[in-house]
Amino acid sequence: MRDSRPIGLFDSGLGGLTVSREIFSLMPDESTIYFGDTLHVPYGSRSIQELINFADQIIAFLVSCNVKYIVFACNTNSSLSLQAMRKRYQVPMKGLIEPGAKLAVSSTVNKRVGIIATEATVNSQAYQRAINSLNPSVSVFAQPAPLLVPLVEAGMSETQKVFDAVCEYVSPLKSAHIDTLILGCTHYPFLLAHFRKCLGPEIVFIDPAAAAVLESKEDMSSLNLLKKSSKVAPSHRYFVSGDPADFAFKAESLGCGRITVERIVLDKS
Ligand code: DGL
Repeated sequence: MRDSRPIGLFDSGLGGLTVSREIFSLMPDESTIYFGDTLHVPYGSRSIQELINFADQIIAFLVSCNVKYIVFACNTNSSLSLQAMRKRYQVPMKGLIEPGAKLAVSSTVNKRVGIIATEATVNSQAYQRAINSLNPSVSVFAQPAPLLVPLVEAGMSETQKVFDAVCEYVSPLKSAHIDTLILGCTHYPFLLAHFRKCLGPEIVFIDPAAAAVLESKEDMSSLNLLKKSSKVAPSHRYFVSGDPADFAFKAESLGCGRITVERIVLDKS
């Protein structure tokens, strides 16, 4: 049996494209449908109820597109809406938190792990709980970074302003002598060079996306959902709730190639 239906993924905006690229690299035959909720970005300062409401509409849309599996390409939703969505929908779903936590626990030598993420993710304690349930002796230092997502979305990733903001946010983590840092927001891998420069070469940076996509591939294999054939080329469709041309332009500036983006209105109320 082969299943050529697409994999669905979603984020508040551009960040989830760092998860798409892992799918392209680890499952190159698979088609994808991406939704970026650019009308509501940033998600990091939203309430749980708002996030559940957005996720519900987005997943209903992805299900209407006949997706076979959904990757939450957003740490904030992985922390706060994934459990509720699993109860509402039958389509199998993967979040980023447990895969990221596992990688961090296996990477740390001095048992001091940092997390940088949105306020909502930090406040949810999802990473802190996941890490400590794997290893209670790991000390976890969490830093919210509310300015970074709006700056990436504004197309300012390569500016001094972003570099300065990154350095300020990681300064307490540096003082805490972490040896491993989880980039706990899918927008942050676009800023990896800044993080490296601010924290130095001895820190291990964890991007949960690769581990989450690998686990998704294993799940899909055991559920018999993989396409398993490269005869038909994969297709990749991108939808946003805001301005499609702006999204396409910024995605290209971030090195994600030239993509065609469509606009869709989900909130009919
Ligand atoms: N990229 C998302 C995350 O991983 C959402 C960030 C936001 O919109 O604040 O959390």
